[in-house]
Amino acid sequence: METHEPRVHAAWLPPEAFRSLGARRVLVHGEGLLVDTVLDEVSRACARYGGRVWHSPSWDVDVDLVLALRGAGELPNPAVEAARSAGEAALAEIGDGEPLGEEGFLLDRDGEVTVVLADAPAGLLYGLFHVVRLCAAAFDPARPPERHRPALRRRMLNHWDNVAVHPVMGQVERGYAGGSIFWRDGRPRGDLARVRAYGRLLAASGVNAISVNNVNVARTEALLLTDRLGDVAEIADALRPYGIRVHLSVSFAAPVLLGGLSTADPLDEGVRDWWVATTRRVYDRIPDFGGYLVKADSEGQPGPFTYGRDHADGANLLAEALAPHGGVVHWRAFVYDHHQDWRDRSTDRARAAYDHFTPLDGRFRTNVVLQVKYGPVDFQTREPVSPVFAAMPATRLALELQVTQEYTGQQRHICHLGPWWGEVLRFAPWGPGGRTIADVAVGEAGAGGGLVAVTNTGDDPFWTGHPLAQANLYTFGRLAWDPWRDPTEVLDEWMTLTFPPSATADPELVRRTLHEIMDDSWRTYERYTAPLGVGFMVHPGDHYGPDVDGYEYSRWGTYHFADRDGVGVDRSRASGTGFAGQYPPYWAQVYESPRTCPDEVLLFFHHVPYSHVLHNGSTVIQHIYDTHFAGVEEVETMRRRWRTLNGMIDPTVYERVAERLDEQVRCATEWRDQVNTYFFRKSGVPDAQGRRIY
Ligand code: GCU
Repeated sequence: METHEPRVHAAWLPPEAFRSLGARRVLVHGEGLLVDTVLDEVSRACARYGGRVWHSPSWDVDVDLVLALRGAGELPNPAVEAARSAGEAALAEIGDGEPLGEEGFLLDRDGEVTVVLADAPAGLLYGLFHVVRLCAAAFDPARPPERHRPALRRRMLNHWDNVAVHPVMGQVERGYAGGSIFWRDGRPRGDLARVRAYGRLLAASGVNAISVNNVNVARTEALLLTDRLGDVAEIADALRPYGIRVHLSVSFAAPVLLGGLSTADPLDEGVRDWWVATTRRVYDRIPDFGGYLVKADSEGQPGPFTYGRDHADGANLLAEALAPHGGVVHWRAFVYDHHQDWRDRSTDRARAAYDHFTPLDGRFRTNVVLQVKYGPVDFQTREPVSPVFAAMPATRLALELQVTQEYTGQQRHICHLGPWWGEVLRFAPWGPGGRTIADVAVGEAGAGGGLVAVTNTGDDPFWTGHPLAQANLYTFGRLAWDPWRDPTEVLDEWMTLTFPPSATADPELVRRTLHEIMDDSWRTYERYTAPLGVGFMVHPGDHYGPDVDGYEYSRWGTYHFADRDGVGVDRSRASGTGFAGQYPPYWAQVYESPRTCPDEVLLFFHHVPYSHVLHNGSTVIQHIYDTHFAGVEEVETMRRRWRTLNGMIDPTVYERVAERLDEQVRCATEWRDQVNTYFFRKSGVPDAQGRRIY
């Protein structure tokens, strides 16, 4: 017989992670689709590891774990009821009087029994995955009660998956993990078991919403809203048991493209009626549909500007159609002029989102979420945090991250992004000690726009191409659940699940080595690529590998302005584009002067001579040389360390990572040599340490 699909890697849910749960006697109490999912999870774990499971009603059975809905009726089992009462008492004691809500849960111990209580089935499912994460610790008699609720209501991934293969971008735009798990060659892929498995992984990380098609909506993809809605409904059905809602990227020109109208003008009655009727049909088919995601007037996508309307008019049109059904519009703030002339120094792409959107603050309907990329330009390894977050107090803002590693090594390089996202989330745009980006995304009483990320998943057997890139996906979900969490702690959690200590001969070696390799890998990546926040310098089009001048004379507005004397973009108010002035006073002042601007974003804000002395004591030119040499050495060390794991972990994981590390060393070396040579030739300044520059 011919073999079918390659075996799919279990990521952070290997059977071994369920050992502790699966060896227990478990009672699940309550009804509902997601309670059935809990039951199914527990049953499979118990079948493998010798435990037992009961679904209410049950009587005289002894149990180790009770997973119960609070509203479910009393059971004829005194021990179980005692555990439930103990849980209720603990909740009254540690709670804030607020209900656990749709997704929260309580975990408590009562004598020999662990009890998980939730108000709603989704909470029970999250509680179950918490028990899995805790392993044996969930059954520790001394464990104090814990209450968990997600800080963010919507924790969303965007798939940039095309239904039809795009001639340039392929099946998945900026996808580095093979094809799409949803679509292939213009049709649904039909592997709903894989979609369900995906939902399971996402639920265990905390994600509860996905959009299933690319934000660049072409003709075939536009049809998902109408003629091909059934394809979306199938995905929604497969994901629903894991509490994941489906959203759709739509074309702003849909009334023209699909409805045969002559206009898509947001103020036209016929256009409004079309959206209302179309949206109603979507909800008839998918009652828990999440909403629309829109990229408008950006990089060639249609939008309200065509009709002389603004983006509030555009977003509100869709919001109005979605509102009666409880849906939301995610409207992207990624709007800029991509037909710039490099000769024109007055236009600055970094300013664009702020300039377009801040005048609209207060005009968006409450079910509009403005989705803002973390940086003002485009998902670079290092950028200042977008000033839009501090400038739209009357708008629900979502932070958009990029899990797919378009500019951070494309899942051929190890680049663990948790620390970078942690820095972004902790950034206090009004000045140290003030509210942070995490606070803005959460909003008052949880009404903020939440966290959204472009996913890194595909049909690759490891889901993410590079097996260690799974950690980025996991970390995103966990930070979306709790954006104040320490990302390194999350990484540790991922390691324990993915490489269970009981499945390796030397768990300490595995853990230590993974930390040594991954903890600082984003900073390592930063060292061997574009320096000091200047960004880009990537190969145009595919954005992989170095090409220092690749975008320098292009229409995309991403320049570094290196000449024989210096490098960087003057974005000061005094002499540059004025971008620094888009921040509240504290940062506007800090960024304004090269004397106060933090080193890591110096070249984002200033054009400085190569001899400029950084806060770290080095000159700019020497810093460029030093970091590029250091970065490559660090990658070589990563590779050496990885080799010590040979024989300790799953050989397929070992081999895949080993092969990618060879490529990372090659590519990092190329970055080092091209960047160093470029700046040596421009500046004529030799390396103080006399190392080889070509
Ligand atoms: C980047 C990326 C594009 C993508 C765009 C977006 O520019 O290269 O492929 O479409 O971001 O965020 O919409």
